[in-house]
Amino acid sequence: MSKRRPPNARLPGDSTPEAEVARMIRVDHAGEYGAARIYDGQLAILAGTEAGDKIAGMAAAERRHLETFDEMVLARRVRPTALAPLWHVAGFALGAGTALLGPRHAMACTEAVEEVIDEHYRVQAERLGGREAALKTTIEEFRADEQDHRDTAIAEGARKAPGHRPLTRAVKAGTRLAIWLSERV
Ligand SMILES: [Fe+2]
Ligand SMILES: [Fe+2]
Repeated sequence: MSKRRPPNARLPGDSTPEAEVARMIRVDHAGEYGAARIYDGQLAILAGTEAGDKIAGMAAAERRHLETFDEMVLARRVRPTALAPLWHVAGFALGAGTALLGPRHAMACTEAVEEVIDEHYRVQAERLGGREAALKTTIEEFRADEQDHRDTAIAEGARKAPGHRPLTRAVKAGTRLAIWLSERV
């Protein structure tokens, strides 16, 4: 077995616990930004449809998540990711692209993204342990929302999308890569 570092372990650049927390906030901020852009892309195609109504509800939650991390980045003077312009385009393209395949594909995209974010938040909360109570509560609340989004996507037919398996695999890989990059850049 390879010795893989758990995804949220301290990185060499994390000289202090504060630096580690800053990195967590940076990646979460980037992730919520990306999520909001994915739903924007889906809504550009599906607004006004039945799936669009569900997506609009999830998009509203992502905007709340993003606002919270926007405030946190400012209050704690965390450097935001330099990759925001990339997530702006890539998030929207992923949302619109899957929505163009159809509403069930859009839901499969949501299922895959939210599953990765659920795990990401789970590991972060665990990593914080007894530190940063307010941040930890935020992470746990948002994690519950993301689980909700995943369940909604499944209820809306995500798993009935033709090509569900390769699609969700690709989206999960892309999401993990985005997390990995946003933790570092
Ligand atoms: Fe979110
Ligand atoms: Fe979400």
